[in-house]
Amino acid sequence: VTGLAASHSGSALGNSERLDAEDGLAHLRERFLLPSDTVYLDGNSLGALPRAVPAAVDELIRRQWGEDLIASWNLHDWIRLPQQVGEAIAPLIGAAPGQVLCVDTISVNVFKLLAAALELRPGRPVILLAEGDFPTDGYVASGLARLLGEERCRLRRVPTERLADALDGDVAALLLTEVNYRSGERFDMRRLTAAAHEAGALAVWDLAHSAGAMPVSLDASGADMAVGCGYKFFNGGPGAPGFVYLAGRHQEAAQSPLAGWLGHRQPFAFEPEYASAPGVARFQAGTPPVLGMVALRAALEVFEDVSVADLRRKSLALTDHFLACLEHEALLPDVFELATPRSRERRGSQVSLRHPEAWGISQALIERRVIVDFRAPDIVRFGFAPLYNRFADARRTAVELADILRDKAHRDPRFADKPTVT
Ligand SMILES: Cc1ncc(COP(=O)(O)O)c(C=O)c1O
Repeated sequence: VTGLAASHSGSALGNSERLDAEDGLAHLRERFLLPSDTVYLDGNSLGALPRAVPAAVDELIRRQWGEDLIASWNLHDWIRLPQQVGEAIAPLIGAAPGQVLCVDTISVNVFKLLAAALELRPGRPVILLAEGDFPTDGYVASGLARLLGEERCRLRRVPTERLADALDGDVAALLLTEVNYRSGERFDMRRLTAAAHEAGALAVWDLAHSAGAMPVSLDASGADMAVGCGYKFFNGGPGAPGFVYLAGRHQEAAQSPLAGWLGHRQPFAFEPEYASAPGVARFQAGTPPVLGMVALRAALEVFEDVSVADLRRKSLALTDHFLACLEHEALLPDVFELATPRSRERRGSQVSLRHPEAWGISQALIERRVIVDFRAPDIVRFGFAPLYNRFADARRTAVELADILRDKAHRDPRFADKPTVT
C-alpha cells in the first residue's frame, strides 16, 4: 500500500487509467448492465444485473411457464434446479461435487445447520459466535436456543480474537462469517476450523461477503458446514436464493429440522413417514423458487470465464488503489478512521471508513451517483466487485468524497431522515 500510495502522489488519475488499461478482467464489465453515469460500490449488498439474466428469466416466464406450464418441472428440469445451481456454486467455494445445495436464505439455512450441528455433537449445548458479526446469525441461534431450552442450546459470544480460547468441551459449533460485514475483516478459515476441531466442535461458516469475490477453501480447510447468499457477489438479483454446504463426511448423520417433502427420499411417493433424501438434498424443505434460481443460474455463467484467484487479485488491487486515492486526497489517516485491515491477508473485498457523519456522507455520495451504503452507527462501506468495478471508480469515489467534505455537502438537512433500508 505504501508503495502504491507513493506512486500515486504524481497523478492518481493517470494511475487509475493505466490500471484499468492493464486489467486483464476489464472486459467482464461488459457482461453487466450498469448505468453509465454511476459508480456502483454496493455489490456486496446487491450485485449488479448480469446481461444474461433478463433473457433467461424471459424464456423461463414466457416459454417454459407460459407454454409448457406444469410439464416444465420435468421438461425443463425445474425440479433439479437446487442441485444444478448448487453444483455451479461448488467450485467457487472450494467444494467438491455433491456437497452444495441452492436453497432458502442464509437465516433459514443457519437455523437448519445449527440444529443439525447440535444433534451431531450430543452433550455439547454451546453455539460459539463472534461479537459484532451479522446479527441474523445470532438472532437465529437465539431462536433455536429458546426452542430447545438452555440445557440443549445456549449462546456464547466473544470478541473475534478470543474465539479460539473460548472453544471448550461444551461447544457444539463455532459459527462465523468469513468476512465481517461492517469492517470487511477476513478471518482465517483454516486456522479457526482447525481450532474448532481440536476442541471437538464443528465449524460453520457464513460466506455472505466472501463467496464470489475471492477463493473460499471449504474442503481444504476442513470446514463442516457453510451458508451463503446469491444476491451479493454472485449477482443473482434481489432476494436470490442462498445455499448450504454440508461436508461429505456428515451427510449420513446430519438431519435437517425442517423435514419437508422435497427433502424426502421419494417426494412423489407421498408416504406418511419422513425418510430423508441422501446427502445435502435433505436440507431442502419445500418447493424451490424457480424464478430466482433461474436468474441466479444465468448470473453464475460469468464465473465460467474467470478464476476466483484472479478475482481476488483484482479485488485486492482495487481496494489497494482506493486506499491510495484516499491518502492522495488527504482523507486517510486523519479525516476518516479506516475500519478495514490494511493487511491484504485480512482484508475482504470492501473498504469501510468510520466517520461521525457517515450517514450524511453516504447520502451525499449517492446523490452524486456513487452508490455506497451506511452501516450504523458510523461506517460508510465501499464494496468492490472485481467482475465489474474499475480502478477509475475508486479514484472518482475518493475525489467526490474529498469534494463533499470540503463543501460540507453531507450536512444538508435533506439527509436528516433515514429510510427503512440503509
Ligand atoms: C454476513 C451476513 N449474513 C447473513 C445475511 C442475511 O442473510 P439472509 O437475508 O439471506 O437471511 C447477510 C445480509 O447481508 C450478511 O451480510
